[in-house]
Amino acid sequence: MTISRTEASELAVAAREAAAHAYCPYSGFRVGAAVLDDDGRIFRGCNVENASYGLTICAERNAVFQAVSHSLGATVIRAIAIYTPTPEPTAPCGACRQVINEFGPDAEVRCICDGPGELRFRLNELLPAAFGPGNLGAARPES
Ligand code: THU
Repeated sequence: MTISRTEASELAVAAREAAAHAYCPYSGFRVGAAVLDDDGRIFRGCNVENASYGLTICAERNAVFQAVSHSLGATVIRAIAIYTPTPEPTAPCGACRQVINEFGPDAEVRCICDGPGELRFRLNELLPAAFGPGNLGAARPES
């Protein structure tokens, strides 16, 4: 189900605020993400880099892990907003698509930036024929 305008605007504000917390001394590329769960709650995440570069965590995965960590049981993700302070919007990386898929195969993905452009997808458009819980005989979290 598509999220409401109010939810979309709250999610966008949260993603922008999250980007202010980014720790990105190596790339200088700030990212903020905000996840909307099926209870209407919003969880934020930013990218956190590391001197051992490969240990960096993206904003999207950080936000998803925040959501799951604050839930009793598993989370269902309805939407995620990703903000970058760039002229054009940025779509989530492959690893983040896989992690979002675990909890929101049909999640709305909104990519926003400082320019007028916005990208909108369903997660399954970004990760067709995804590997997921079903491949291991596991059930997905239910809303
Ligand atoms: N980054 C994200 O936070 N999300 C993405 O989807 C792509 C990349 C971060 C990781 C790293 O801190 C910086 O952007 C440059 O790759």
